[in-house]
Amino acid sequence: MTDNLSIEQRGLRESATFDRTTIAAIQRAAETGIYDIRGWGAKRKLPHFDDLLFLGASMSRYPLEGYRERCDTDVWLGTRNAKYPLHLSTPVTIAGMSFGALSAGAKEALGRGASEVGTSTTTGDGGMTPEERGQSKHLVYQYLPSRYGMNPDDLRKADAIEVVLGQGAKPGGGGMLLGQKISERVAAMRTLPEGIDQRSACRHPDWTGPDDLAIKINELREITDWEKPIYVKVGASRTYYDVKLAVHSGADVVVVDGMQGGTAATQEVFIEHVGIPTLAAIPQAVQALQELGVHREVQLIVSGGIRNGADVAKAMALGADAVAIGTAALIALGDNDPRYAKEYEAIGSAAGYYDDFQDGRDPAGISTQDPELSARFDPVLGGKRLANFLRVMTMEAQTIARACGKAHLQHLEPEDLVAISIEAAAMARVPLAGTGWIPGSGL
Ligand SMILES: Cc1cc2nc3c(=O)[nH]c(=O)nc-3n(C[C@H](O)[C@H](O)[C@H](O)COP(=O)(O)O)c2cc1C
Repeated sequence: MTDNLSIEQRGLRESATFDRTTIAAIQRAAETGIYDIRGWGAKRKLPHFDDLLFLGASMSRYPLEGYRERCDTDVWLGTRNAKYPLHLSTPVTIAGMSFGALSAGAKEALGRGASEVGTSTTTGDGGMTPEERGQSKHLVYQYLPSRYGMNPDDLRKADAIEVVLGQGAKPGGGGMLLGQKISERVAAMRTLPEGIDQRSACRHPDWTGPDDLAIKINELREITDWEKPIYVKVGASRTYYDVKLAVHSGADVVVVDGMQGGTAATQEVFIEHVGIPTLAAIPQAVQALQELGVHREVQLIVSGGIRNGADVAKAMALGADAVAIGTAALIALGDNDPRYAKEYEAIGSAAGYYDDFQDGRDPAGISTQDPELSARFDPVLGGKRLANFLRVMTMEAQTIARACGKAHLQHLEPEDLVAISIEAAAMARVPLAGTGWIPGSGL
């Protein structure tokens, strides 16, 4: 009798606590006895840049004319100690993503796209490939707990060094690369066996705290003749304290990666339950820098869920000097292209869901080491697509800055922003729209 009735007509209700995704996760765990590992970032809804709006100029503020009046976008990174700080044309940089997680062609394309618009790209857990060095005008070299692919010659070839303490997707956790991505070349660079799952260290082997980090930073400066800026990257959690300690340890640039930040492969439980949203981390970082009197002298790069020029402008208005993008850059290269919809379904994912980063069978040839799949990806075309995307992001951010009357992206400030939710107002420390109310009292 109930056959023709809809679920609602039958009076069935889905539980908010045990919704169908939760039920499927329990069933999967019960069947396999294995926890879920995936790429991408947090998929749950979190307070984010969409919860902030700009107050464009009208009577009380004076806007700039888009086609006649300048709005500069350049940024200097590493001015505190380095002989050669980086001077980038746009504050949108490319985040560290490993060769191993990504194909050599994808790494090369990131370098090509970044260089075309005068910004930097970053190596990752697994070392520097000649292709990415060759195509990257400004290359930041990651120095990670795993030390995979680390060698002093490559340190000297880099334009800046990023000491990685953590990632927003997994603060406190180490790296993972599943066996299907450990090809002969990836294995050789990491001095690991081929085809075997790799888990890398969650903390640096030779230090136990900030004092040791200070020694390490000095070593890195000595090896590179005090030429290169030293960044310190942290996953957002106790950001206020972490940023203060990074500055005390000698960082020239602090990179704060929020909870929405992407990953190549991490436990699902980690991605969704550890860390704090990017929005909450920025004001903590800025407060720490301001209290130490080094805001703008030690630059702040923010990452984790940056998707467009509005996000860039909002991060900068909250006090960042630059941003870094990972996931959005991969989308721009052509990852999860609807063209390959059928093939994504065949590997248990779907175009637009990105449940395959970890898996190594990416039909677009980006997050894979499979020779046939990688060969599908054209680094020159990918680089062009990324350059286009970076230009659009920069122009969007400029559009907003001009509307707020600012002749440089760095002139954006918290006073230009309001929040549309109480949570976002409290985290970003800007007033709720239409009120002067900033909930909460800081730290
Ligand atoms: C495929 C992939 C690989 C990554 N590999 C690394 C890595 O090797 N080292 C690192 O510090 N972060 C790594 N990350 C994190 C990024 O550097 C960055 O923090 C994050 O992607 C920023 O968030 P977004 O993806 O939302 O832009 C990786 C991210 C992705 C998506």
